Amino acid sequence: MYKEIKTIGVLTSGGDAPGMNAAVRAVVRTALSKGIKVIGIQRGYNGLLNGEVREMDLRSVSEIIHRGGTVLYTARCLEFVTAEGQKKGAEKCKELGIDAMVVIGGDGSFKGARALANLGIPCIGIPGTIDNDIACSEYTIGYDTAMNTAVEMIDKLRDTTQSHDRCSVVEVMGRNAGYIALNVGIATGALAILIPERPYDLDHDIISRMNQTQKTGKKHFIVIVAEGVGHAQELANEIQARTGIDSRATVLGHVQRGGSPTLRDRVTASQMGYHAVNLLEKGIYNRVVAVSADKIVDYDISVALSMHKTIDTMMLDVANTISI
Ligand code: ADP
Ligand code: F6P
Repeated sequence: MYKEIKTIGVLTSGGDAPGMNAAVRAVVRTALSKGIKVIGIQRGYNGLLNGEVREMDLRSVSEIIHRGGTVLYTARCLEFVTAEGQKKGAEKCKELGIDAMVVIGGDGSFKGARALANLGIPCIGIPGTIDNDIACSEYTIGYDTAMNTAVEMIDKLRDTTQSHDRCSVVEVMGRNAGYIALNVGIATGALAILIPERPYDLDHDIISRMNQTQKTGKKHFIVIVAEGVGHAQELANEIQARTGIDSRATVLGHVQRGGSPTLRDRVTASQMGYHAVNLLEKGIYNRVVAVSADKIVDYDISVALSMHKTIDTMMLDVANTISI
């Protein structure tokens, strides 16, 4: 027997991701369609602790499906990592009449959700991060938009890199994961892609490939470095010293987190938000919504947090074979 959910809280937490708004919209409208009240909590767990909340209606999520960022704002909340902070959060939920929470964010945010679940507040997690680093899900909201933004920026860089016969070392985001780097590297024809999941050898993976391709007439180069590998400037300096090719470092940074979400992010976010509320309505709690084999599924939150995801390093072989 489960408690009927009359009011849900929804928040976005951790780094923002394009498509989070579409997820909020889906949560709000699906809940309202079932007669469930929705309280929007601003600035992640900070807003829960401070009572920074507002009731959401159908029109409060109008005109947001195409917008990047998150209308609920987001934050990182250190207090919520503590047992006292979590207890305060659960008490706040009760005080605000919140029967269940939908948390849109990454692994860190789901740990917060699990803490709330352990304190008796039913929770559902929705994967929202550009990094695609949530183990239980093949896809996370924001990933596609961020990659497309990076590709657009690197295409622009290519023009000037080519005009000057230079090497551009480009650092892309991804925290400790190389998903963005790997795909963006292939899509931009990078000569080398460095990801944290596979150690690299400067001579073998970059310098000798540059020398080899120079002999075939290639004069400009793009090297993609995942944030988890880092040191783009040092790498550019080293490449210049070793090859004599004028080399520049570009760190794309937070631009990758902004912008209007792609179709894929809007659709996935909409499906996930809808699924999350359906789970709650059925009395299925403490799950993380995920994509598996192109279907929307869900996993127990603790199981989800204990899962591991591997990157397809075969894609590096694809890149190394054709980007030469
Ligand atoms: P993401 O959700 O994208 O992984 P963070 O790791 O920064 O981003 O986590 C976002 C927020 O989730 C943190 O600021 C904190 O409020 C909460 N959080 C992170 N780790 C924990 C934890 N171990 N226990 C409880 N809450 C956590
Ligand atoms: O998790 C998303 C992300 O953009 C990572 O790629 C990056 O490591 C981190 O957030 C940057 O966080 P901040 O917004 O605190 O600079």
